[in-house]
Amino acid sequence: SVNLEGRSFLTLKDFNAEEIKPILWVSADLKHRIKHRGEYVPLLQGKSIAMIFEKRSTRTRMATETGFSLLGGHPCFLTPQDIHLGVNESTTDTARVLSGLADVVLARVYSHSSLEHLDIDASIPVINGLSDLYHPIQVLADLSTLQEHYGSLKGLTLAWIGDGNNVLHSFMMSLAKLGVNLKVATPKGYEPDANVTQEAQLLSKQFGTKLQFLMDPMEAARHSSVLVTDTWVSMGQEEEKKKRLKDFHGYQITMQTGSVAAPDWTFLHCLPRKAEEVDDEVFYSPRSLVFTEAENHKWTIMGLMVCILTDYTPQIPKLKF
Ligand code: CP
Repeated sequence: SVNLEGRSFLTLKDFNAEEIKPILWVSADLKHRIKHRGEYVPLLQGKSIAMIFEKRSTRTRMATETGFSLLGGHPCFLTPQDIHLGVNESTTDTARVLSGLADVVLARVYSHSSLEHLDIDASIPVINGLSDLYHPIQVLADLSTLQEHYGSLKGLTLAWIGDGNNVLHSFMMSLAKLGVNLKVATPKGYEPDANVTQEAQLLSKQFGTKLQFLMDPMEAARHSSVLVTDTWVSMGQEEEKKKRLKDFHGYQITMQTGSVAAPDWTFLHCLPRKAEEVDDEVFYSPRSLVFTEAENHKWTIMGLMVCILTDYTPQIPKLKF
C-alpha cells in the first residue's frame, strides 16, 4: 500500500520504516523470481537510467548496469570524460536535459550538495550512488543481507568499528527505525558528523533502540550480532593514508574481536577491503557475509528502481522484520 513512485533516494533520513521495508521486500522478490526461479521479469522495459560516476566503482556500477538491463531497461554509464557536466554545462541544464532523455538518474559524487542540486532541477528521481555524506544503497544491501541471514532485523545489535563515514551515516539514519541497536567505535577525531549524530540520537529515543558512541572496539563488539567496518582511507583521502593507518591502530577486526560478540555474530564490509581493517581469518570465514552483501547490492538497487519507477506488488509473502 506504500507508493514510492517518483521518489528520489538521496538519504535514508527521508524514508520511514514503512517505506524501507517494501524496497527490501521487492528486492527479495526479484532475487527469488529471477535468480532462483529463472523468470524473465521485464518491469523496466522501455526505461533508461543515466549513471553519473564522478568516482570509480565496481559493485554499484555492475549492480546498476546489470540489474537495470536484467529488468529490460537501458543503462547509460557516464563519467566526467563522457558528459559536459562539470566542464561546460551546468548542473541545472544537465538535470533538465537528462529529465527528457532518461527515467531516473543514479549519481556517485564527491559532494552530497551536487546530488541535492541535481535533484532540485531534475523532474525525474535522483538516486544517491554514494556521496561524502551518505551511501544509502549500500545500507539497503546490508539490511537485505542481514534480513536474509537472521530472518528478521528487530533486536539485532550492530557494531560499527572504524571510520565515522558515509556508510555509518546511512546506518544511523535507518537502523533505529527498524528496531536495530547500534554501537559505534571510532578513534578520536573520526567520529560521525555532528548533525547526523544528533538526528540518530532522536531516532533512537523515538524508536527505543540503544545507540552508543565509544572509542574501544572490543566494547563495541561485546554482545553485538553484526561487526561492521569499512575502508579507513576513502576515495579522495589518499594523502592522509599514513596518518589514518596510525590513528586506526587497534581497530582491525579479528577473531579476538569476534570472541566477545554474540554467539551468532557475523561480519559485513561494503568493500573494497584492505587487510588492515579486517584480517583474512575473519574476512574469508563463514562468519563473513561480504560476498552475499556485494551480490545483494544488485538485488536491492533493482528493488529500489522497481519501487520508484513502477507500481509492482511482490509475489513472495511479506518479509519479517
Ligand atoms: N561498496 C561499494 O559501493 O562498492 P563500489 O565502490 O565498488 O561501488
